[in-house]
Amino acid sequence: MSYIHQSDPELFSILNREIAREESTLELIASENFTSPAILEMAGGVMTNKYAEGYPGKRYYGGCEFVDEAEDLARDRLKTLFNCEYVNVQPHSGSQANMATLMTFLSPGETVMGLDLSHGGHLTHGSPVNFSGKLYNFISYRVSKQTGRVDFDEVYQLAKEHKPKLIICGGSAYPRFIEFEQFKDIAEKVGAYLMADIAHPAGLVAAGIHPSPMPHCDVVTSTTHKTLRGPRGGIIMMGKDFENIWGRVAPKSGRTKNVSELLDSTVMPGIQGGPLMHIIAAKAIAFGEALKPAFKIYAKNVVENAQYMAELLLNLDYKLVSDGTDTHVILIDLTNKNITGKKAENALGLAGITVNKNMVPFDEKSPFVTSGIRVGTPAVTTRGMGKNEIEKIVKWIDKSLKSCEDELTLQEIKSDVATLCDAFPIYPHLNH
Ligand SMILES: Cc1ncc(COP(=O)(O)O)c(C=O)c1O
Repeated sequence: MSYIHQSDPELFSILNREIAREESTLELIASENFTSPAILEMAGGVMTNKYAEGYPGKRYYGGCEFVDEAEDLARDRLKTLFNCEYVNVQPHSGSQANMATLMTFLSPGETVMGLDLSHGGHLTHGSPVNFSGKLYNFISYRVSKQTGRVDFDEVYQLAKEHKPKLIICGGSAYPRFIEFEQFKDIAEKVGAYLMADIAHPAGLVAAGIHPSPMPHCDVVTSTTHKTLRGPRGGIIMMGKDFENIWGRVAPKSGRTKNVSELLDSTVMPGIQGGPLMHIIAAKAIAFGEALKPAFKIYAKNVVENAQYMAELLLNLDYKLVSDGTDTHVILIDLTNKNITGKKAENALGLAGITVNKNMVPFDEKSPFVTSGIRVGTPAVTTRGMGKNEIEKIVKWIDKSLKSCEDELTLQEIKSDVATLCDAFPIYPHLNH
């Protein structure tokens, strides 16, 4: 008998309906995944009870001996996974990892460059409604209309003109490898720090499928819950020789601490209080899982599934931003299909296929309507789905979009989707 059932039947019912939804529908949101049962157990475990402000060995609370061990393990495993020397595993989310990093490297009002949100960037890369756009002078670069890839001529022109103190590379809807070397070249020419946000491809980087930012970027942030398949959370990393960064670009900054101490203190006490120790311990499990050979196979399958899906969609005359993908993300421009992103998201939802509407570069529609949808393969690949299932999924996507007004057809697809999902259970141990 479940404790939740006994103490709160209302929430028990909500939880079970969510379990059933996850089990019986196809999750194609590129930023979502299913953690292992071990990670779920740790994230729901007793470490949620512990206050541990500070860092291992230097806490403001007693009784931290075991959470210290968990955080040390998380840090050591993360360093091995990404081959880096500095890590902070405490940010509660990707946004907080970015906030701490920007607040460490920049003073309010200083100039930063990031990928435009409607061209695949993230809110924290300078959106005017986000702290980043409010605190800093963000200059957005875009992708090229022809190629759908970052327009490096524009990046260089803007960098020369605006002399940013920091350039962010990476984004939320960029289907191609992040071009760390090209960004590094420009950052060096204009004397800017280079920050990579690898929230999306982190698992692919860990598996060696996506190039690593470490040799090129001064500082790297990520989430832990997308392709990396951990619990929700953020991390900050720096590669080798990081202590030289501060002196190299801002020798007269007057700061007395080195950059790793500054980053640690911006996370706590700068923007956070007590770390989520249950999540940090769950991150340690995720990093341990990602270090195993099976994770490399998983990441390879994620990309193979995405590339196969892209190929099938192209055959059906779907327009893909950048004409395909190197990663887990596909950005579909629906303008030639005469359906908005909003309508497509809705129709697919009724058919049991979860995606998100997404702006496409140079979109003429608002962010609430959009001309595109973003799809991704991390979650279906975790379920063990491969090429056969991808073929079915693409057929269902196409049929749903063609039948977006036809509720009966959408319901039929939903039932076929559920039958497929039954054969690929996610959490057989959970009742629903
Ligand atoms: C590139 C990028 N950075 C940062 C974030 C923020 O992560 P979170 O939602 O954990 O704050 C996301 C999340 O979508 C992202 O895609």
